[in-house]
Amino acid sequence: MKHFVKIAACFLLCVAMAQAQSPTGAPKAVEAWNELKGEKFEALQLKGDAARGAEAFQACQGCHKRGATGSSNGAYPRLAGQHATVLIEQITDIRSGRRTNPKMAPFADEHVLTTQEIADIAVYLQALPIQYQIGDKGAGNDLERGKGLYVRDCAVCHGDRGQGHAQKFVPLIAGQHYGYVLRELAYIRDEKRGNANPDMVTVIHPYRNEDLEVVADYISRLTLP
Ligand code: HEC
Ligand code: HEC
Repeated sequence: MKHFVKIAACFLLCVAMAQAQSPTGAPKAVEAWNELKGEKFEALQLKGDAARGAEAFQACQGCHKRGATGSSNGAYPRLAGQHATVLIEQITDIRSGRRTNPKMAPFADEHVLTTQEIADIAVYLQALPIQYQIGDKGAGNDLERGKGLYVRDCAVCHGDRGQGHAQKFVPLIAGQHYGYVLRELAYIRDEKRGNANPDMVTVIHPYRNEDLEVVADYISRLTLP
């Protein structure tokens, strides 16, 4: 309960700050993005153990599936192969309420998941192979335009193949489920994700739904060697 109150207070404060600083609705960095402090910093310093991570991840498989493939309809993201730094960043943000994810929050609560287990799960997941064949793809209607937008606006951070950047906390997005990518892009554009990188929000803000669809489709078909 105390935890919930803290999350609610933080959420209200964040909303208030965002509203105070962006009256036009234009995206603005409300704080330095991803400040490394507290539990996030601590988890990043810990040495993870993949075998312990495999065990702890059993509590997550009901949603994220065995092998962390996610669900092909995109309801649950694939976690296999993701950078450990990104996993730690996202899990601690979900747990602190910085990233909005009410479905998962109870499973990431400090009473059920220790900081050490977060570090363990991160190294376990990072080493899992990506099973591209399980991926959900878009309609394939306009992949050329999707590629054009990706190369122009996204590759600078996410890499030409969607590999991301571990040290900069940029997620690997190659072959991620179409439905999930599309949903996140809308959250990012509409400022519902909570922890979105502000420079990315600026880039995605003018995108129409059709633009999000073609770029998500292109991403869902990227593969890494
Ligand atoms: C009840 C279902 C559920 C359970 C159990 C669950 N998750 Fe999730 N998780 C989700 C959903 C749904 C999302 C995506 C939310 C969204 O749409 O933004 C997510 C997102 C994530 C992300 C962010 C992925 C990304 O690419 O940004 C990570 C990391 C994650 N989960 C890790 C875990 C771990 C570790 C556990 C176990 C301790 C776990 N999840 C348990 C439902 C669940
Ligand atoms: C300035 C660097 C930058 C640019 C430009 C950028 N991104 Fe990102 N992106 C990030 C970072 C950092 C994150 C992780 C933080 C977050 O949660 O927002 C992220 C997260 C994402 C996610 C969520 C991934 C997941 O696993 O949940 C998607 C999808 C995404 N970006 C797609 C795009 C697309 C499409 C574009 C181009 C239209 C783009 N990004 C442009 C830096 C960038």
